Amino acid sequence: MGTKGHFIVFEGIDGSGKTTQIDLLKKHIEENGFICYKTKEPTDGPVGSLLRQCLAGSVQTDEMTLAALFAADRLDHILNNQNGLLKKLDEGISVISDRYILSTYAYQSVRVPLDWVMALNSMAAGKIHPDCHIFIDIDPGTAMKRIAKGRTGNELFENEKRLTETRNKYFDLFRQFKGTENIIIIDGTQNIQKVSDDIWQSVYKYFL
Ligand code: TMP
Repeated sequence: MGTKGHFIVFEGIDGSGKTTQIDLLKKHIEENGFICYKTKEPTDGPVGSLLRQCLAGSVQTDEMTLAALFAADRLDHILNNQNGLLKKLDEGISVISDRYILSTYAYQSVRVPLDWVMALNSMAAGKIHPDCHIFIDIDPGTAMKRIAKGRTGNELFENEKRLTETRNKYFDLFRQFKGTENIIIIDGTQNIQKVSDDIWQSVYKYFL
């Protein structure tokens, strides 16, 4: 079997600017001659579609069920034999995912015990390990202003209180995973080009 692709994950609270930065990084990676596949969680698969409806408020559920759905969507994301992450990485394709396991740990542990959330994700955690998690950090006030631009309604977690709690959870996790996970924190309040440069500085070593 050939060399495996690299797996890079973007994390951050809602409104942190992940989408723009993922597109810029993908372009950089491709310019360096690597094949790059962009993906996201919640996925476009069956569980991910249900999750999108829960987040939009058109399907009502509770936070424990949501945590279980995020874990199920992740397993499908990893394992499905059409465009699953394991398949892509085994084919030597590098993958950038907009959110992964730390999103569940941070967002769901605001309401659901973290150890249970981790237990739900233990199978996924054992399957693939990101080369790095890029956390784009912005304060929840700035995030809410960005979200308000060009939107008619807010999704489930898009309120300042929840984003503040979630951001705090992310930083708790970074302390907990220091030394075991490669977590890169980027100041997301800088201009788009500077954020992109900082990200490239942190990951170009994988694409030489
Ligand atoms: P997005 O806005 O980045 O597309 O993410 C959708 C929302 O889903 C966002 O509010 C974060 C939330 N989310 C979780 O709560 N847990 C998860 O595991 C994931 C992947 C997303």
